Amino acid sequence: MRNFISAADAQDIDGLVQKALSYKADPFKDRSLGAGKRIGCLFLNPSMRTRLSTQIAAQNLGMEAIVFNVGSEGWALEFEEEAIMSGNTVEHVKDAAPIFGKYFDILAIRTFPSLKNKEDDYSELYIKQFIKYAGIPVVSLESATLHPLQSLTDIITISENEQKKAGTKKPKIVLTWAPHVKALPQCVANSFSQWVNQWGKADFVITHPEDYELSEEFTAGATITHNQDEALKDADYVYVKNWSTFKDYGKVYESDPKWMLTNDKLKLTNNAKVMHCLPVRRNVELSDEILDGPNSLVTQEASNRVWAAQTVLSEILSGK
Ligand code: CP
Repeated sequence: MRNFISAADAQDIDGLVQKALSYKADPFKDRSLGAGKRIGCLFLNPSMRTRLSTQIAAQNLGMEAIVFNVGSEGWALEFEEEAIMSGNTVEHVKDAAPIFGKYFDILAIRTFPSLKNKEDDYSELYIKQFIKYAGIPVVSLESATLHPLQSLTDIITISENEQKKAGTKKPKIVLTWAPHVKALPQCVANSFSQWVNQWGKADFVITHPEDYELSEEFTAGATITHNQDEALKDADYVYVKNWSTFKDYGKVYESDPKWMLTNDKLKLTNNAKVMHCLPVRRNVELSDEILDGPNSLVTQEASNRVWAAQTVLSEILSGK
């Protein structure tokens, strides 16, 4: 693995899952793999889980991890080629990225979308410019359209729960849209769809209100319905997430609380486990009764972020 920015960088998802679970069982077994190596974690946007889990993962492999909150503490970066930098940007990524390439062995970056211009966001200009100019492997800590470390974590968490069950029936996984007070990126939903589709080991259903279709680039292969109750029927896993509109980009058309998952709705499922990447707006996006109840996997999911990150760093360090 050279870079990790999408499911396309994962040749063997089940192999990554098994490696992650082996790190969970024995976190320090590859302590010498990253000795003398350094990872730079650049945050253009806020984070809790991604930031901490990536640092812990690097340290478990013997690496030094340096976090730089570029968005709040660094010079404002310019990403456009041939830009005339007479505005607010101070340093071009062409000048900054090669320096990161000299300071670090791996560069990890979080860069959210603007939600103002679909073409710009979906071109993934920012992370592609870092790949072009840094000259070292780049790991996405969530980019404009995808959140691959979260999605690998989600497959690890589902696999872990499936391994506890007898039988070989494919699980039914439902990705459901949920209400929110703000316009959020499509990254987590795009990425979850991309990974579940590539994994191919589930019956995958996506449910959302009308006009909330995600890009077919990520959802092709899933069953899509606007009827949440129908989607939830016999589900084994319900993945809850809000996203803003893709077609008429970055808008909020719907906020009806009837889309929030409750224990009553959970009765339609096969006693489904409930997932969310966090952070979550309680009693807007997901109810207290679900988050505090026995079906919630959110803490297990967040704790598994360490093993996903450790697996990806290990693959890059060992050149696999
Ligand atoms: N799920 C996730 O990426 O969490 P943070 O935004 O806190 O990193």
